[in-house]
Amino acid sequence: MVGPPGAGKGTQARRLSAERRLCRISTGDLLRAAVDAGTPLGKMADEFMSRGELVPDDVILDLVAEELGRPACAGGTVFDGFPRSVGQAEGLDRILGRGGERVDRVLEIDVPEEEVLRRLAGRRVCKNCEKLYHISFGPSQVEGRCDVCGGELVQREDDHPETIQRRLAVYRQTTSPVLSYYEERPGVTVIPGDRPVDEVAARVRRELAAVGSGA
Ligand code: AP5
Repeated sequence: MVGPPGAGKGTQARRLSAERRLCRISTGDLLRAAVDAGTPLGKMADEFMSRGELVPDDVILDLVAEELGRPACAGGTVFDGFPRSVGQAEGLDRILGRGGERVDRVLEIDVPEEEVLRRLAGRRVCKNCEKLYHISFGPSQVEGRCDVCGGELVQREDDHPETIQRRLAVYRQTTSPVLSYYEERPGVTVIPGDRPVDEVAARVRRELAAVGSGA
């Protein structure tokens, strides 16, 4: 799943992975876990993430290769916010090619920038279980607390106006060309993301109905 920051990739990828029992690889979540754990990788990644810049391709590809080696990913994977550069797309093809696998579908979740700004400014994440909320479009029942586990809801460090602008610029310059990379094979399906979450999910489901059924 490709799309600008705040397009709803994480929201949709989580649903898809639960519904289809697919492994979900979110490079953003993996990096944030490393930052929280204070590992050398996390310390290095934090420098890039806090500025809204991309973490170098070789680091990302090593992370993805390691994740793909987990038994949970043997039945198929949904990539959430990866690949984000043509170098990463080429690297992914190499990694998958070793096991005779390939990218089946590319979904671009398309959302206008004004909507991105509204979504990211209001996003809250459970510190404990990572469930996503939005203060206006999908609030928790008790302000500041997760409905599922009661954990504290926090704002992501990179969800501040200047960093959001930089993330959008990086998306336009470096990530958009990934869509051209996939244009010929397997092709890119554009999904309007400025619709209610359930509607977007229904469209994702329809687009992927044939994947894994041999079609
Ligand atoms: P990452 O964590 O991947 O962030 P991102 O791509 O900027 O995307 P977001 O997580 O902000 O948004 P999303 O599209 O998942 O939307 P969400 O579902 O949360 O990356 C963060 C940083 O890590 C990068 O800037 C970079 O530094 C680094 N990084 C990560 N991957 C990398 C890579 N491959 N290479 C190099 N560096 C990398 O939804 C947003 C909000 O909107 C939520 O509040 C949600 O509840 C709400 N919402 C969702 N859908 C809807 C809807 N349909 N209607 C109304 N509200 C909605």
